[in-house]
Amino acid sequence: MAIARRTRTIAGICEPAEMSLPELRTPAVGAVHPLVCPEGWPRMFLRSAPIVCDLGAGNGRFAAAYAELHPEWNILAVERRLPRVRKIRRAQELRRLSNLRVLWLGWDDLLLGWSQPESCREIHVLFPDPWPKRRHQIRRTLSVRVLTAIFRVLEPGGFFRLLTDDAGYYATVEQAAAALPGFGRAEDPGGFPETQFETIFRSRGTPLHGAIWRKPEGNGTERKRRGAA
Ligand SMILES: C[S@@+](CC[C@H](N)C(=O)[O-])C[C@H]1O[C@@H](n2cnc3c(N)ncnc32)[C@H](O)[C@@H]1O
Repeated sequence: MAIARRTRTIAGICEPAEMSLPELRTPAVGAVHPLVCPEGWPRMFLRSAPIVCDLGAGNGRFAAAYAELHPEWNILAVERRLPRVRKIRRAQELRRLSNLRVLWLGWDDLLLGWSQPESCREIHVLFPDPWPKRRHQIRRTLSVRVLTAIFRVLEPGGFFRLLTDDAGYYATVEQAAAALPGFGRAEDPGGFPETQFETIFRSRGTPLHGAIWRKPEGNGTERKRRGAA
């Protein structure tokens, strides 16, 4: 199973020159990097803790603030633009966030290659690129396939949170989520730090669309299937 051709470097470390451990080096094209999978994360974070993902993390404002709020969790920011990856890494260093890591890769690739079901506590997708023109909508990252992968990797009781300014994008995700077994809308507990885009949209008065979908507690389909095997 290949993670991605775009997988270049990981673990909050942007370039091979900055890598301190030989095993963090760029993988061969098409190879699964040993750390870009749940089995590798305890080594990447230097500890075992629940994993929370911020996918398409931008400048990392949410991921860094969430890491500060929840030192008991491992926060994984995923971003495909290198300058933004570097910003997140700088924030991680300046604020000494030992529970934050950034991956430089496509988050769809990460999810589709994610080897262990039910191994992620929370997934936040905050202002994914909307591709509003009809002919461009095929480029949206949050496809039915990717949403199904999100459902698969969430722990029972874990949640997926989406926030967007694009009503159409939100509606397609809502429809796709309704087709997944027991993936119900949950109450928003609130208290989430704002993202950079959220602040911009709120200051302009742009209507926002968002929700939380929670995976059923204790009766995850994957777990049942694994138990039956
Ligand atoms: C509109 S910005 C939102 C950034 C941040 N979440 C916020 O709310 O401030 C979308 C971000 O997702 C990143 N992105 C888009 N598609 C991606 C993908 N497939 N994998 C990783 N990052 C992606 C973009 O580079 C960009 O930084």
